[in-house]
Amino acid sequence: MAKDWTGNSNSIFKTLGASNHTEKERQNEDYYATDPKAAEWLLKLEKFSDNIWECACGEGHLSRVFELNGYNVKSTDLIDRGYGEGSLDFLAIDNMEWNGDIITNPPYKYAKEFIEKALQIIPEGNKIAMFLKIQFLESKGRKNLFITHPPKTVYVSCSRLLCAKNAEFNKNDKGGGAVSYAWYIWEKGFKGTTELKWFN
Ligand SMILES: C[S@@+](CC[C@H](N)C(=O)[O-])C[C@H]1O[C@@H](n2cnc3c(N)ncnc32)[C@H](O)[C@@H]1O
Repeated sequence: MAKDWTGNSNSIFKTLGASNHTEKERQNEDYYATDPKAAEWLLKLEKFSDNIWECACGEGHLSRVFELNGYNVKSTDLIDRGYGEGSLDFLAIDNMEWNGDIITNPPYKYAKEFIEKALQIIPEGNKIAMFLKIQFLESKGRKNLFITHPPKTVYVSCSRLLCAKNAEFNKNDKGGGAVSYAWYIWEKGFKGTTELKWFN
């Protein structure tokens, strides 16, 4: 059992589902919280460096799992959702290098921009892991990204993992359970053929 912020024993899932933010605040900026199981799976699939930046952390559904597994986690978000540091626009970051890996489920409408920004700020050989819909593989707009920066591996989830609007995992959210997701892994500098694997 993990401990929540108040020190009580609790499941990660239950702890992170709780929030005292208003509905309006939480709906802002494409907020879908990821089932922490997705992060647990990722750590079984890939090795990461000690420092992880969850740059769109929401309420910490992914960050918390990385922390519990011993990583140094920097958690930031554009919106202050009560976890990590708020008011940090990842896309506005300029002139910095992050000496670690970057892992998130980004706002879907800016996913390409998040990947491009992450590629700019990590050193060669470091990794980016993005939890994205399978459909992210298609579209003319992303073709150039995939040709210039092919992901090293795409791990498709065989069973559905839920991303819950406003972290309301208890609601039967049709927008979550109906969507197929994958972990997309970039290793900066990789120019080979993308490997496709399955998990879950
Ligand atoms: C799909 S939610 C995922 C939340 C969290 N990563 C998770 O997996 O539970 C996307 C998050 O991106 C944040 N966001 C949107 N635009 C952003 C930006 N420009 N910089 C940083 N965070 C942003 C939203 O506030 C939201 O919390």
